[in-house]
Amino acid sequence: MKVACIGSGLIGSGWATYFALKGLETTMFDIDESKLEEAVERIKSNLKFLYEAEVIDERAFNQCIERITVTTDMKKAVEDAEVIQENGPENYEIKQKIIQDIELYGKKDAIIASSTSGLLITEIAKGANHPERIIGAHPYNPVQLIPLVEITKGEATESVYIDKAVSFYQSIDKEPIVLKKEALGFISNRLALALYREAVEIVERGICTVEEVDKACCFGPGLRYALMGPNLIYQLGGGKYGIQGALAHMGPSVEKWWEDMADWKKWPEGYGERVQKGVDEEMENRRESHGKTNEDIAMFRDKGLIMLLKYHEKM
Ligand SMILES: NC(=O)c1ccc[n+]([C@@H]2O[C@H](COP(=O)([O-])OP(=O)(O)OC[C@H]3O[C@@H](n4cnc5c(N)ncnc54)[C@H](O)[C@@H]3O)[C@@H](O)[C@H]2O)c1
Repeated sequence: MKVACIGSGLIGSGWATYFALKGLETTMFDIDESKLEEAVERIKSNLKFLYEAEVIDERAFNQCIERITVTTDMKKAVEDAEVIQENGPENYEIKQKIIQDIELYGKKDAIIASSTSGLLITEIAKGANHPERIIGAHPYNPVQLIPLVEITKGEATESVYIDKAVSFYQSIDKEPIVLKKEALGFISNRLALALYREAVEIVERGICTVEEVDKACCFGPGLRYALMGPNLIYQLGGGKYGIQGALAHMGPSVEKWWEDMADWKKWPEGYGERVQKGVDEEMENRRESHGKTNEDIAMFRDKGLIMLLKYHEKM
């Protein structure tokens, strides 16, 4: 099966790495030759990491490299592709133009899946000849390691293409979830940002430091969240009474906490600068072996993700 990645930045190169790992012939397109060169280096580095973590052997490493072709020629990129993953900048005009270019050369029934983090598919598909096959397929960074793909549809998307997309992502071991209706931030970022608002609040109120927020999350609920979602967590918390019992038990206290918790809609003035100082201190305090720089911390994260993915039987 042939697939195409349009836009070769962080996400496009992550998808290309993943598609190649799953045995798919992958073409990666960008308007900027230098971005393609950078993407190839990023893909090699992604694969080198997987090789060093003993996820792939040397043969698989070389096969993945061979499966990826790069080009600045849109026709070459999309003409044989059955799935076209769009990863251009987060901008309606650019994405609409990319879709028009794809439609000039691509198969009429190819799935066009946008990696958009939050733009509306209805809007992205405006001006398309075949908007029925345009979907959202929002991945999580690093794409080659995180299984979640949030599938969204626009007004003109036909459900047959949603079904095809779900089958496709399942066939390559992703975990697709289909949103029943469009929602800003989709599912996962709404959840993440609800947590983050309170993370900001408790630092701003002087309840704890930036570092302590991260420790509380990482060494407490975060460990469980890596294994199951909040509903299952409360199911177990309720023992034989299940989540219903847990909620009945916690209910009155939680309503008091909610009354006290953040519900603001605008970031506190100057928070960016304050939190950066806190994160710099946190990074300085980390153990050398857990990484102190962005690059080393990302490596620490990715090694841990591999262990978790194996436990989830996703790798
Ligand atoms: N960065 C993330 O964590 C993340 C996570 C999930 C989804 N996304 C989404 O994925 C998409 C790409 O994000 P990114 O972080 O990889 O961005 P990026 O800036 O790293 O890459 C965008 C690429 O698109 C290329 N490009 C620009 N105009 C183009 C055109 N007309 N045709 C083809 N390519 C073009 C650029 O040269 C660049 O290489 C965005 O829609 C973004 O919202 C990003």
